[in-house]
Amino acid sequence: MTEQYSATARACSNIAFIKYWGNRDHDLRLPLNGSISMNLKGLETTTTVVFGEEIESDRLVLNGKPATGAALERVSKHLDYIRRLAGVSLCAAVESENNFPTGAGIASSASAFSALTAAACAALGLKLTEKELSIIARLGSGSASRSIPGGFVEWYAGEDHESSFAESIAPPDHWDLVDLVAIVSLEHKDVGSSGGHQLANTSSLQQSRIEDTPQRLQLCREAILTRDFDALTEVSEKDTLLMHSVMMTSEPALFYCLPPTLAVMQAVREWRNNGMPVFFTIDAGPNVHVITTGDQREEVERRLREIDGVITVLGATPGRGVEIAGQ
Ligand code: PMV
Repeated sequence: MTEQYSATARACSNIAFIKYWGNRDHDLRLPLNGSISMNLKGLETTTTVVFGEEIESDRLVLNGKPATGAALERVSKHLDYIRRLAGVSLCAAVESENNFPTGAGIASSASAFSALTAAACAALGLKLTEKELSIIARLGSGSASRSIPGGFVEWYAGEDHESSFAESIAPPDHWDLVDLVAIVSLEHKDVGSSGGHQLANTSSLQQSRIEDTPQRLQLCREAILTRDFDALTEVSEKDTLLMHSVMMTSEPALFYCLPPTLAVMQAVREWRNNGMPVFFTIDAGPNVHVITTGDQREEVERRLREIDGVITVLGATPGRGVEIAGQ
């Protein structure tokens, strides 16, 4: 048998409190604004990459099923960058598993491209810093750059390819927060985030959203560092609503919210008015990430499950950065 080079990496998904929406360079995925997120322990991807001479073309198995077409092309393109860096031309067999239910409407590109980057670079013996891995992961999926470092993470918009990367602003045990994801739809969305980023500038609201982002980043950073839940609530909900306002006023318009999405948002606001520490944040889909503190987890989950249209609830706590699980 000819020589093989392999490695396995595990990465968490992440939820942004200050969202990334729109690029200034689509090829390099250089974002129009910086963003801040929390890694999600419990919503993770484990990826094994094997490079070898006997592998005739890149192969991808996603959650046990062979993947072809656009998914495989995106992975191959990402591997091409890493192959060039390592000076090799070997093809790869990639196997990727999410520990959350497939088709549960949870975006996995952040954990997937973070794990793929770390595994492929380790397999080819590239000794890279966390910053360098974050830069490479960004090329696969912008939000993947934030799943490389651990805990609470900021991704800098930067000036160019080398300066747009993410780093940790606080470790996972800094704050006992919980993300309860209220799943309200299992459907695959029509326009994914890559397509959405291309439309962001067609909204006349995007410019003002971008201009105000440095201020929101500052408020969010401070809220995290001082564990100020009320301040995080205010800036995060506002940021989500700004991003969805841009989405809904794009051409064509992007509507991700469904009736149960709004029902959860309203319930969360009501619970908060009655004194519960809880807020919502929503990505490019109809599911609602409901953020609360560890001591409220059971109660919030119980209440979410009672809302009409909530299919299930997934839970996650602050997670670590990407890890090599085997080589
Ligand atoms: O990394 P992408 O291209 O899947 O974009 C992520 C976009 C949002 O999830 C909507 C916001 C974010 O910052 O995660």
